[in-house]
Amino acid sequence: MTDDSRPAPPAATAAAVIPAAGRGVRLGPGAPKALRPLGGIPLLVHAVRAMAASRAVALVVVVAPPEGTAEVRALLDTHALPERTDFLVVPGGDTRQESVRLGLDALPPHVDTVLVHDAARPLVPVDTVDAVVAAVHAGAPAVVPALPLADTVKEVEPRDPARPDAPEPVVATPARARLRAVQTPQGFDRATLVHAHATVPVDGEGATDCAGMVERTGRPVVLVPGHEEAFKVTRPLDLVLAEAVLARRRATDGY
Ligand code: CTP
Ligand code: MG
Repeated sequence: MTDDSRPAPPAATAAAVIPAAGRGVRLGPGAPKALRPLGGIPLLVHAVRAMAASRAVALVVVVAPPEGTAEVRALLDTHALPERTDFLVVPGGDTRQESVRLGLDALPPHVDTVLVHDAARPLVPVDTVDAVVAAVHAGAPAVVPALPLADTVKEVEPRDPARPDAPEPVVATPARARLRAVQTPQGFDRATLVHAHATVPVDGEGATDCAGMVERTGRPVVLVPGHEEAFKVTRPLDLVLAEAVLARRRATDGY
């Protein structure tokens, strides 16, 4: 007897692009951030597994440090991924925006949904990934996981480069209740994201957030609930927290 009452798993036509080409300057000296270990395994491998954990994701495109593509390919060959998940490794660019575009350029034709996920967010739970994919499949062209802020945020006048130690004047204090901190994976209808990358120029250090580029093309962006374990490893203390979260997972659910 077949069981037709179960919901069908999401169709596996989504690909995840993982920008991993950054140096990790704020984390301090050492290997490129994506290759730094967390629980003995590189951050990037955690991030790839987090995307591959979603049944909707059939392909992971890793955008590697340009001098490290062979090393990254070897790393992914030695760390098991689910049978159903393919991966590609392409060299990245000087900014996150350029790295994401290089990842998009490598996507095969049948992919219709794209997730963009920071290698620096190794611990995002699969439920968050699935919620983003589901919202794109339900018709939203751009979907971002987000959380309310703990800290109040101030807008400041950019510092006078000639006086780097001078106090910064405050310009405004936006109401905290209206602000959200955004995470990844951000999910997109492929054509929407490709259009944004084709039309928004790389300005200075480039866009740190693909959804912001989509906003600039006039397409709507919506938020779904993020997860506190989807935080980005940016500074040394973040790595301490990530180790603690991983240790708790390994102790409680054999992760
Ligand atoms: N990234 C990338 N290509 C770049 C810069 C960043 O693929 N030229 C990626 C990073 O590898 C990271 C993600 O974008 O996974 C988010 O960027 P961030 O946290 O800023 O990482 P880094 O740029 O490596 O860190 P830092 O800014 O401290 O140097
Ligand atoms: Mg950076």
